[in-house]
Amino acid sequence: MCGIIGYIGDRKACDVIVDGLKRLEYRGYDSVGVVTDNDGKLYIKKGAGKISELEVKLNLSELPGNRGIGHTRWATHGVPDDTNAHPHTDCTGKIAVVHNGIIENYLELKEELIKKGHRFKSDTDTEVIAHLIEEELKTERDFEKALRNALNKLKGSFALGIIYSEDKEHLYFVRHESPLILGIGNGEMFAASDIPAFLPYTNKAVFIDDGEYVILSKEDYKVKDFRTGAIKEKEVHVIKWSLEMAEKQGYPHFMLKEIYEQPRAVKDAIYGNAEFIDEVAKEISGYDKIFIVAMGTSYHAGIVGKYLFQRLAKKVPIVEEASEFRYEAEEVIDKNTLVIAITQSGETADTLAAIRLAKKRGAKTLSIVNVVGSMATRISDLVLYTHAGPEIGVAATKTYTTQLTVLTMLAIALARHLRTTDEKYLNTLEEELYKLPELLNEALKHADGLKALAKKLKEKRDFFYIGRGISVATALEGALKLKEISYIHAEGLSAGELKHGPLALIEEGVPVVAIAPSGKTFDKIVSNVEEAKARKGFIISLGDNEELMKISDVFLRMPEVDELLSPIIYVVPLQIFAYHLAVIRGNDPDKPRNLAKSVTVE
Ligand code: G6P
Repeated sequence: MCGIIGYIGDRKACDVIVDGLKRLEYRGYDSVGVVTDNDGKLYIKKGAGKISELEVKLNLSELPGNRGIGHTRWATHGVPDDTNAHPHTDCTGKIAVVHNGIIENYLELKEELIKKGHRFKSDTDTEVIAHLIEEELKTERDFEKALRNALNKLKGSFALGIIYSEDKEHLYFVRHESPLILGIGNGEMFAASDIPAFLPYTNKAVFIDDGEYVILSKEDYKVKDFRTGAIKEKEVHVIKWSLEMAEKQGYPHFMLKEIYEQPRAVKDAIYGNAEFIDEVAKEISGYDKIFIVAMGTSYHAGIVGKYLFQRLAKKVPIVEEASEFRYEAEEVIDKNTLVIAITQSGETADTLAAIRLAKKRGAKTLSIVNVVGSMATRISDLVLYTHAGPEIGVAATKTYTTQLTVLTMLAIALARHLRTTDEKYLNTLEEELYKLPELLNEALKHADGLKALAKKLKEKRDFFYIGRGISVATALEGALKLKEISYIHAEGLSAGELKHGPLALIEEGVPVVAIAPSGKTFDKIVSNVEEAKARKGFIISLGDNEELMKISDVFLRMPEVDELLSPIIYVVPLQIFAYHLAVIRGNDPDKPRNLAKSVTVE
């Protein structure tokens, strides 16, 4: 996720752009860049860091001209540094591009362009776009047509802002699977990833759809289809949101917005890793002594990872909290050990200490991280990114489901490499994985019912979440979400453990949440639910089998999915439920008491 903005009018472009970037910073904040045009010459300033620091350091207010584009970056390809910051230019320096999204075929395009003599300066996928347009301009002199030719060669998701020094009257913007909105002013026009960027100047907005591009001039805008070139009629909407509401795209809290972003985030995690996963799987395939280390929600992802590795790659990793591992494991780690660290922020003190310990003992380290360029990525041998975009809510949601997505891809790739699982089954699983964004949308449809359920159960003192097999992790994560933001006591446990203690606590009306997808142990969990039911527990079950409905007080029908993929889908209603319970009880789910997004101290 990144933020883009463009301005054309009579104001000093850099002022409007810098102002807008500050309001887009929640979309990414590792680097910033602005390009303006003054009389046919482009002026670029960019660098790694936050907008508030760079505004002063780079003297952004010195940029001349009334036309320009800007970018706030959340790195996907290439570490966050000055060179990789957007905008990116072609060889002539006449075309500058800012981009939000991922170009999936950039390596292929880059290779072709290098063969044709183009010189690349950055490691980003974005830079290929500038060179590609330059290349098209060699045979098609009309800029708009050349742009269209280039766009039709791109695969992936992209919202683009493009400035061409020789076309002094216009700016160009494109949307394909990344957001883009126009702000319509009087004698001035805006374009941005999100409404807050231009809301202080105008509340008239045009929502651009996938496959469309925009030619923006001071007085006018044209929207066209980039496949056919046909003009598109667009409606102008009047925005009634406050600035703060707009930043959350109308959602009352970042957590809810992030829950709803999961279909997109999981899709980016899939496409962002498809190219690298086999190589990483190959590199780790020789290790039999494997530890997965993490904290909090990332630790629960580790538990899912263990089941995936066991079932598919026939490897048995030990999953340990990094805070324990760092003091207990030293003597058993050696050069034949693989340590997989899972960390959203890449800055959790205990997880970093675990990676450092592993390195000191000569082990191989692989980190699964969301924040590009974070410490974990700098000290690990191998890195896989989750591509969830910045997560502002303290309780992890989309970073969890994307961690699970990456772990699933890794386990499939490993199993394929080691030939430990039938290829046909792996192919089916992979096909289902690609359908996850759709299935996540289905799971999100339970939102209204969950809100009503939260209202009903808001006074309960204890909750029990039970699961078996891979769903134990979902039970743990569901309980953690509830504790974190609603401040209600909740326990997550393997359903088999119920009658070894916790069953003593189940009495009339105590909520028991059963995570029960069809699969290896479905019958077993049905028996466990019966045990709780016999003690008059209030049963809420999540599953795809009607049998469950008969014994549940509340049944949430989940989309049918392979058991190994179910943790990615089944956690969603649990996130929504915890969110509503927090809100109903008057808590701020984005900033739970006593907790921090990233625990950088021991
Ligand atoms: C904190 C956050 C959790 C997160 C955990 C691990 O406790 O509140 O949401 O799961 O840290 O963070 P990491 O960045 O390492 O995934």
